[in-house]
Amino acid sequence: MDSRKPVKAVKDVVEAAAEKVGDVLNPEVPGAPGSAPPTVDGPTTPHEPLPPKKEQGTPETRTPTGAATGVPATAKGQQGAFLTTAQGARLRDTDHSLKAGPRGPVLLQDHHLREKITHFDHERIPERVVHSRGAGAHGVFVGYGTAERVTRADFLAKGRETPVFVRFSTVLGSRGSADTVRDTRGFATKFYTDEGTFDLVANNIPVFFIQDAIKFPDIIHAGKPHPDREIPQAQSAHDTFWDFVSLHTEAQHHAIWNMSDRGIPRSYRMMEGFGVHTFRLVNTAGETALAKFHWKPKLGVHSLTWEEAQLASGVDPDFHRRDLYDAIEAGAYPEWELGLQVLPDTPEETFAGIDLLDPTKIVPEELAPVQPVGRLTLNRTPTNFFAEVEQVAFHPGHLPPGIDVTNDPLLQGRLFSYVDTQLTRLGGPNFAQIPVNRPHAPVNDMLRDGFHQHAVHAGVAPYRPNSLDGGNPFPAGDADGAFVDVPVTVAEAPKVRANPVSFDDHFSQARLFWLSMSPVEKEHIIRAYTFELGKCYHQPIRERQLRCLANIDPVLCAEVATGLGLPAPEPTVPLADVAPSPALSQVGREWPADGRMVGIVVDPAAGLDGVGQVRRAVFAAGMVPLLIAPHGGTVDGLPVQRTFATARSVEFDVLLLAGAPTPAPDALPARDAKAGAAAPATVDPRVSLLVEECWRHAKAIGAWAGGVGVLEQAGVAGTPGVVSGDSGLDVLTAVQRLMATHRVWERFPASVA
Ligand code: HEM
Repeated sequence: MDSRKPVKAVKDVVEAAAEKVGDVLNPEVPGAPGSAPPTVDGPTTPHEPLPPKKEQGTPETRTPTGAATGVPATAKGQQGAFLTTAQGARLRDTDHSLKAGPRGPVLLQDHHLREKITHFDHERIPERVVHSRGAGAHGVFVGYGTAERVTRADFLAKGRETPVFVRFSTVLGSRGSADTVRDTRGFATKFYTDEGTFDLVANNIPVFFIQDAIKFPDIIHAGKPHPDREIPQAQSAHDTFWDFVSLHTEAQHHAIWNMSDRGIPRSYRMMEGFGVHTFRLVNTAGETALAKFHWKPKLGVHSLTWEEAQLASGVDPDFHRRDLYDAIEAGAYPEWELGLQVLPDTPEETFAGIDLLDPTKIVPEELAPVQPVGRLTLNRTPTNFFAEVEQVAFHPGHLPPGIDVTNDPLLQGRLFSYVDTQLTRLGGPNFAQIPVNRPHAPVNDMLRDGFHQHAVHAGVAPYRPNSLDGGNPFPAGDADGAFVDVPVTVAEAPKVRANPVSFDDHFSQARLFWLSMSPVEKEHIIRAYTFELGKCYHQPIRERQLRCLANIDPVLCAEVATGLGLPAPEPTVPLADVAPSPALSQVGREWPADGRMVGIVVDPAAGLDGVGQVRRAVFAAGMVPLLIAPHGGTVDGLPVQRTFATARSVEFDVLLLAGAPTPAPDALPARDAKAGAAAPATVDPRVSLLVEECWRHAKAIGAWAGGVGVLEQAGVAGTPGVVSGDSGLDVLTAVQRLMATHRVWERFPASVA
């Protein structure tokens, strides 16, 4: 029995490679944990703290009341070469408690022990009640000046640069849940404007499940894990979610967006963002307009396939977080244009028959085009996740002069909810003084004291009117840039717990969305409903949701019903006669491929002809090449980023094959379950699996030299989106053209029109 032999062989190969490599494997590939490579023996000489990584940013150093300090950001964390207590006393030893003899009890007087353990015991704060899982980055917003006609907000002025912090999130999952679950994504932006902070607390879906904030606890309780077993985590595929949305049918429009590809984005960089509510804008002349905010990604809107999303949840639960940070580190800065749909401010607050106060409705872009007003670029990763991403606190009521709220009842409730929850989450009323939350506009409020007060307020009269502080602070007038509460007339009406009648239409725009999808997008929606309802335990809940689908579209309903093995019900309301909105479809256009991941399979035995060139060309095109080899270390002097054991297809947007590696020593199901994939014995089975999955997920695949044989053996040569050629560069060029459409859509057959 020769089962031990491969171990030795693998070990030999790894050791030999490690000897050759030294300590810096991939200086150009993003993901290094620190700013300097570690040494094998570990450092022994005290030195100043290492600088942050080049792509890391921090909140600007501002005082708690918004003044610039000029202190370098690096002075905010640890300083100096020596370990100290929290009071700055240098410490001799942090590895041993102070004891009565080496074998004796620990002494209560050990202040360092108590300080270290006590602080550790209190390191956690409550996670957000929703949107707990997220990732954030710093950036800059530059106004185009095109919004001056409709709003006096100064940060939109031509060329005005405003620092921003953005946090992306999922809604349902806990803080440690996977990134790629099917869910709505948060897209919250803090603009540190000179006129006060503006928070655009948006989602990647333009409508919401409910029309009134009083239902927010209901929808969230329904979507969260069941309260008894606390499962499933970060999923909507369960009874309580579908129980609620099938009964509370105003949720149907948002639900169909979640069941579409929008629910599983490829990347935060490839999502649209929507302010959802209608806001009211006011210009310098006091004229008002209604408006909806849109973020348009430079890279287009793209999604994962459902199988990719599921695989990524296991293989790389941090998929979106890593993608965001790697892209910024690689210099492929994510960009969006901010756009406005500007709508007349009429007493009815409707546009083309659409109630603008109803957050379950969109205004199709074909009726009101999105007008670009500025550009957002994310160019710095956080230096400390907790300090910045976890402690950032957004609030839809943080508005600059020129932007005001409307009476949308969902927005009105949000104005109460965020600060209320942050009081608990961030431990008191002074969280606006946490560095990431500090405004960049001077703060001169009369709020005082409270837990964690950082400001040293001077003066004796934090009240108005006063004479003891000379009457300060004075209210500002229009000329001083005061916030404008637009004096909207409120129509005389009885006090009621009721919605306007127009809010009763729950299905027409869900149908509009369905009709706007391409056949392949419709397939995905059918599959998503069938999966989610199939995971429900109770048949009546499935049947009830089918009734809702019947009111959206008979084909959708019939297809899902077939999958569930249930009869398709008849509609209970007339099918809405709506025009599709082509802008809602994700397919049919071309976009840049910045920051995409290019997997390159190499065969060390055959040499790496052309691979170095291809790697350089991939970098030059703003993408990241990842070499995939049978073992780690280097191959022909090139650093290996993934081995056949560590690589999985979901990591790559495109697969290139530069060789046909024979099975590596660890290609044994006992060593790597992936090696169990059925494959021709001449190619490593993990490589065959990569090809199989990339093909199934409609990714472009290219091969040259020995790699062409792998395509033939896998039976995919000559199929759509699979290219082979004589040189790696030619193949890369062909593959780049294919990547512009995100996927090779022909490979997804669609049975619906
Ligand atoms: C259009 C509808 C809504 C959108 C677009 C939206 C968006 C968001 C986003 C993006 C976040 C994450 C903020 C972050 O990254 O820290 C968030 C958090 C939150 N949302 Fe909403 N939300 C909506 C509706 C509501 C409603 C109706 C309520 C309550 C009545 C609510 C309560 C909360 C709470 C409590 C948090 C956690 C805030 C924190 O702990 O800092 N949201 N929301």
